[in-house]
Amino acid sequence: MKRKILIVTGGGDCPGLNAVIRAICKRAWQEAGVEVYGSIEAYNGIMNEPMKIIELTPENISGIHVKGGTILKTTNKGGPFNWPVRTNDGWKTVDLSDELIKKLSYYGFDCVISIGGDGSQKISQKLYEKGVNIIGIPKTIDNDLSCTDFTFGFQTAVEIATDAVDKLVTTAASHNRVMVLETMGRDAGWIALSAGIAGGAEVILIPEIPYDVEKVAKRLNERIDSGKGFAIIVIAEGAKSISTGKYYVKNRNDLGYKNQLLSAVGGELAHTLSDIVNADFRTTILGHLQRGGTPIAYDRILSAQFGIKAVELFLENKFGQMVSYKHPELVSVPIAEAIKEYNVIKPDSYLLKTARGLGICLGD
Ligand code: F6P
Repeated sequence: MKRKILIVTGGGDCPGLNAVIRAICKRAWQEAGVEVYGSIEAYNGIMNEPMKIIELTPENISGIHVKGGTILKTTNKGGPFNWPVRTNDGWKTVDLSDELIKKLSYYGFDCVISIGGDGSQKISQKLYEKGVNIIGIPKTIDNDLSCTDFTFGFQTAVEIATDAVDKLVTTAASHNRVMVLETMGRDAGWIALSAGIAGGAEVILIPEIPYDVEKVAKRLNERIDSGKGFAIIVIAEGAKSISTGKYYVKNRNDLGYKNQLLSAVGGELAHTLSDIVNADFRTTILGHLQRGGTPIAYDRILSAQFGIKAVELFLENKFGQMVSYKHPELVSVPIAEAIKEYNVIKPDSYLLKTARGLGICLGD
């Protein structure tokens, strides 16, 4: 008897997506009669007419584990519960989840494996509650999904951000400058904190700890007065100053795009500090460089494990579950648990303790 799995990659892309897709296929094909398909551009592939669904084959997944992005494409707009439609009054979004469910059943998909972050897994949970056999795989460079030690893609982003800090150190030291590096991390500062520790930053600012610009300035002035003329500040895009308590947002109004567009908090900080610190400031926004390119070995291995575990859950008929890495095991947790709250850095986290122990200023 044939059994069909549909893979969906949703939300922002992330290094390791293709490695997960390949692992799902390789494990699934070890079972008689199991076929694997991919919906192009998240759920759009199955929702749109004509549909865009491809059957995954040994040819089209060959060697993809080293490639960045997703061969299935992705989107972080819309989705079955917020489907954009044009009306006489302009665009609005409607709930087309019932249509999606009918199509899944009509085309004989026994299971959906949804590879995505918090937003995608919220969709997974709603579909599960409506009867879809769904399994989640936690993806995001921000590492902000709960109930797993790590999401895949995070370690690659940390590697890229650390490499950026290392490079900024040499130019900062040559010019006696303060370099501000802005990383991604909307709600959680895992990338900034990890790369800042790894690269030896003087100051690390994260969304979890609102920063006092006066305290940051004091630390920089002390450093400059002590004869060290350069410093590195790593700041997460979602960091907030105590004076505003808000994200630094660039507004935009794309239909179905739920996030506020961040980026620029680093430049704003440098601008403010340059009035109160006697140093030359330069800012680098690392942006989507953190999401592109090949996954490091750690993420390829984690992605492979996630893909294999997801197929095992399928074979055990365990749906509504998200695969999870709980060192040293691969386990599964209810998707409902994983989406309850963001995995932010807790005040008693040992990583924070490490940063403080190294004398790094966290802006508080
Ligand atoms: O959720 C991952 C993330 O990389 C965030 O850190 C960032 O704010 C967001 O995606 C940006 O997404 P995009 O520019 O693709 O809309």
